Amino acid sequence: MTEVVHTPRVFSGIQPSGGLTLGNYLGALKRFVEMQNSGIETLYCMVDLHAITVWQNPDDLRHATRELAAGFIASGLDPQKSILFNQSQVSAHAELAWVFNCVARMGWLNRMTQFKDKAGKNRENASVGLFSYPNLMASDILIYKATQVPVGDDQKQHLELTRDIAAKFNNDFGVDHFPITEPKIEGAATRVMSLRDGAKKMSKSDPSDASRINMTDDAETIAKKIRKAKTDPDGLPSEIEGLTDRAEAKNLVNIYAALADMSVEQVLAECGGKQFSEFKPMLSDLAVAKLSPISGEMARLMEDTSEIDRILGDGARKANAIAQPILEETYDIVGLIRSK
Ligand code: TYM
Repeated sequence: MTEVVHTPRVFSGIQPSGGLTLGNYLGALKRFVEMQNSGIETLYCMVDLHAITVWQNPDDLRHATRELAAGFIASGLDPQKSILFNQSQVSAHAELAWVFNCVARMGWLNRMTQFKDKAGKNRENASVGLFSYPNLMASDILIYKATQVPVGDDQKQHLELTRDIAAKFNNDFGVDHFPITEPKIEGAATRVMSLRDGAKKMSKSDPSDASRINMTDDAETIAKKIRKAKTDPDGLPSEIEGLTDRAEAKNLVNIYAALADMSVEQVLAECGGKQFSEFKPMLSDLAVAKLSPISGEMARLMEDTSEIDRILGDGARKANAIAQPILEETYDIVGLIRSK
């Protein structure tokens, strides 16, 4: 087998199911922008086919997809530098996912914790799409032979499965076709936690709106949510060890560090000894300063959804031009006839 050196390429995606949270911003979007500006080719996708693995009202889905695109652009993703598109407009994602349905093993998918969490107790009633979701995710990445995927910590298991699928495909067919993708789970905010419970991830699906900061929240709402965020009675330590077993305190420090582009150590060196009554207003001011321009720009972009649709269409054409030859090559490896 010839050893292939895969060209560096970044891919990542976000589901248009509900609005963007601070967790999505710090764990993913902000990192997408950094990678866009690092000179590597970048593709970022609104994964609408993933969103429909659970019920979506069609009008809400259309709105959420456009709002997510607005969030991408408002956060600093430039459609001239990155390929921005929605997944369903590039049919190769779904086509390669079928091949991967035939590569991945039932046992692998049975171990996926996200399926167990999302399906809950009533597994018999979960959609088949929810079960095979990780295969579509592997396809999103490998249809571009992406080598790096920036994500939050909760996607780690899915990325390991993507690597397993690539390795099994290469091994089954005796080729070095797909790269073994590297997850990029880095920075102070790979797992932003709920503001109400430091043991739970900040999530758009949490029933309590007070548990999260939404990218569309206004300054007053952000300040109120941070003021009410759960903490413990102690002040901030000056060393990182002082945050051990203090999930809520640690979460607020991590958020501050990620928003300020500082390390946790730097934040503690500056703020160690302060009480939360002093630190929380600092955090609110910082969050408002960083997030308000983004929400303002999102609202402005949403006034012209035809422009958003144009950007997504343009991105889909560019994505398709990369994906289609890789799909053809894959079908050929598998033995599927392609008439010229
Ligand atoms: P999704 O839509 O749930 O989340 C999008 C991204 O945001 C990150 N994230 C967080 N990071 C830190 N703290 C949090 N509280 C937090 N909540 C969410 C997620 O880790 C993710 O990076 N399966 C994916 C979407 C997807 C995808 C892909 C990602 C589909 N295909 C291919 C990468 C590559 C998901 O449901 O993300």
